[in-house]
Amino acid sequence: MKTIFSGIQPSGTLTLGNYLGALKQFVELQEDHDCYFCIVDEHAITVPQDRLELRNNIKSLAALYLASGIDPEKSTLFIQSEVPAHTQLGWMLQSISYIGELERMTQFKDKSSKSSGKEAVSAGLLTYPPLMASDILLYNTDIVPVGEDQKQHLELTRNLAQRFNNKFNDIFTIPEVRIPKVGARIMSLQEPTKKMSKSDENQKGFISMLDEPKKIEKKIKSAVTDSEGIVKYDKENKPGISNLLTIYSSCTGESVQELEAKYEGKGYGDFKQDTANAVIQLLEPIQQKYHDLINSAELDDILDEGADKAAYTANKTLRKAKKAMGLGRVKKKK
Ligand code: TYM
Repeated sequence: MKTIFSGIQPSGTLTLGNYLGALKQFVELQEDHDCYFCIVDEHAITVPQDRLELRNNIKSLAALYLASGIDPEKSTLFIQSEVPAHTQLGWMLQSISYIGELERMTQFKDKSSKSSGKEAVSAGLLTYPPLMASDILLYNTDIVPVGEDQKQHLELTRNLAQRFNNKFNDIFTIPEVRIPKVGARIMSLQEPTKKMSKSDENQKGFISMLDEPKKIEKKIKSAVTDSEGIVKYDKENKPGISNLLTIYSSCTGESVQELEAKYEGKGYGDFKQDTANAVIQLLEPIQQKYHDLINSAELDDILDEGADKAAYTANKTLRKAKKAMGLGRVKKKK
């Protein structure tokens, strides 16, 4: 059975983009793969976090994973900082990463250009990709399901794994990236040429997975479109409508072509209303389960068991990697 690994940062409530680009695939994949799903809190602290908010976000993300359909009988769900092997191998991989290749990462460039230059950006933001590589490589991962924005990090992970294998010993499996055909890059509702992001200052730009139905409806109805009045997929010239078509299609499973035919000759009003309904129908049952789970003791038990299971596999790989690099001792048999 092939192994899957993926992670999500607990840095605010997940958006519809996180769900359609990542979580939705996780739920499908757990049926016939050995899956590890991680709450990557050590990645989240590469930008400033409020400690209580971070704690809440970690729990909330765990509940959202489960509410979305991650089944702890089938998948291992755990918190990154509870399995120390991640930062240990992360350090070792940092040591074979080049500053130049890390500085070329688009996410680093974007995030560091937003604040006032390199003095205000943490070193962790630069060394984030080797930690992400460590997450993946510790589990002998075959496939990493992610949205399109993580493609470059996956390419670097593959390079680091190959570099390590060539330099030291053939230890790491080289992982493949898996990007969904529809929904790999959900765009902002207000600026449809920009990715939908939970850190967007404009609240109207994203739909949170916990937004109430009324709010979802309002946000979709005020989504930026164009004045043409034709429901047609054209990413270049009609980014707003194309984004709504993608959202609608990913929520219901109807193809974009089917939707174009369905709304031929109709205005944007009906189309937006139906898109909102599709999103609400998808998220409402998840929200109900989330509220049942968030304060349950069950959640802690699942995360404890997940951390134990993950640590067992991760430590085995870590031991091999340390030995290959020459770290520590080889003890004499007594
Ligand atoms: P993060 O937390 O930003 O996002 C989690 C997942 O959601 C996807 N995603 C999107 N998909 C479609 N449209 C969007 N607008 C959108 N926004 C986010 C992301 O591609 C991702 O799959 N570095 C990762 C977390 C990570 C990780 C890992 C992932 C750490 N270690 C190991 C995979 C394997 C991140 O910041 O994702």
